[in-house]
Amino acid sequence: MADLTTEFVGIKSPNPFWLASAPPTDKEYNVRRAFEAGWGGVVWKTLGIDPPVVNVNGPRYGAVWGPDRRLLGLNNIELITDRPLEVNLREIKAVKRDWPDRALVVSLMVPCDEESWKYILGRVEETGADGVELNFGCPHGMSERGMGSAVGQVPEYIEMVTRWCKANTRMPVIVKLTPNITDIRYPARAAKAGGADAVSLINTINSITGVNLDNFAPEPEIDGKGTHGGYCGPAVKPIALNMVAEIARDPETRGLPISGIGGVTTWRDAAEFLALGAHNVQVCTAAMTYGFKVVQEMIAGLSEWMDAKGFASVSDIVGRAVPNVTDWQYLNLNYVTKARIDQEKCIHCGRCYAACEDTSHQAIWMKEGRVFEVNDAECVACNLCVDVCPVEGCITMERLAPGTVDPRTGKVVEADYANWTTHPNNPAAKAAE
Ligand SMILES: Cc1cc2nc3c(=O)[nH]c(=O)nc-3n(C[C@H](O)[C@H](O)[C@H](O)COP(=O)(O)O)c2cc1C
Ligand code: SF4
Ligand code: SF4
Repeated sequence: MADLTTEFVGIKSPNPFWLASAPPTDKEYNVRRAFEAGWGGVVWKTLGIDPPVVNVNGPRYGAVWGPDRRLLGLNNIELITDRPLEVNLREIKAVKRDWPDRALVVSLMVPCDEESWKYILGRVEETGADGVELNFGCPHGMSERGMGSAVGQVPEYIEMVTRWCKANTRMPVIVKLTPNITDIRYPARAAKAGGADAVSLINTINSITGVNLDNFAPEPEIDGKGTHGGYCGPAVKPIALNMVAEIARDPETRGLPISGIGGVTTWRDAAEFLALGAHNVQVCTAAMTYGFKVVQEMIAGLSEWMDAKGFASVSDIVGRAVPNVTDWQYLNLNYVTKARIDQEKCIHCGRCYAACEDTSHQAIWMKEGRVFEVNDAECVACNLCVDVCPVEGCITMERLAPGTVDPRTGKVVEADYANWTTHPNNPAAKAAE
């Protein structure tokens, strides 16, 4: 049986599934039930300095759904905790006392001066919490007050505040990054330069989920007005995976522990984050959508997959896919594939035909009786037909064996790896000769 226990910045937890800082971790009642359900750890909903913030009293969520109304993306305009600091601290202490084997990290966001950080770090330390996470990510409400992503979007501020925190606490410091930047490597490098023990990402993405076309108010709507909010859930996973991978493979941050966040809904999502370099994962939307017990499927699924693959511990997975993330110019141009349609599985819907025909390749023939066939002489192997086909496994991409002729280019497929850096069409490659 696979060992799911993890140690992240010295904090032990029975499994790599933590709840991210958000409403499910806003109070003792919730966190106790989360631990009972099996979560390995939590990051407590972000604390600030009193007086507590005030939330809107109307809708705070907007959503994007799939055709089956499954929630794909969630947008929120909620702020940090609106409960008094003392209440939160008292509850954190009580929960940590009763659940010593679970990770309990406290998220923090205070004004950008060293005294405020020193004060709150001291207060959190008294609770016995395992560590702190600096919320440099919230893109709404708090950023306009000079906190959250207002800090996270300026690498120099990240480094400065992280340095203050490291100087004023013995607890591990995790820096939570905002995705609302152009290149995630810079904030990650700044966190490392400031002495961060780890980074966690992503926080939410600035967004408007929709507009009410009757009164022209953005959603979620508060009395006819709306504002940008933070986007999360399954829709953001690809963005988060890329950012995690970028940090994992950046020579300047390689080895910096990462807590992966963004759209984790199943054990498979978690395994992908781990493979791309995250040491554990945090979950918010999936717990908000399906309840705390969703973690049980995550634990069982990850454990079974690890057993099937022969991975004994979570660390066996961490970073396994990172060496396979490369830059475009290093992709093998001699890897030639063609689409293949399984006529037994085809339901003759014609989606592949429409997509290929109107996406400039015209590589699928529609023959008598709505039989669809690939014309290898035109197929550029883009994979679009695979993606639009409603029948899983009906269209696959098949590699042309080296030595055969690609009917599209008329060239023999070479066995050797060759990339753009040496391609004759590359002006830079010619200049280097
Ligand atoms: C309603 C809501 C409130 C949130 N509040 C916080 C917060 O107080 N502090 C924080 O660091 N992140 C906060 N987040 C962001 C989550 O911790 C997480 O980074 C984000 O939702 C992405 O994960 P997910 O796709 O699993 O939801 C909040 C998210 C939601 C949906
Ligand atoms: S892989 Fe691309 S080019 Fe080839 S048949 Fe499919 S859609 Fe057309
Ligand atoms: S999209 Fe798939 S199922 Fe539909 S016609 Fe093409 S191959 Fe057949």
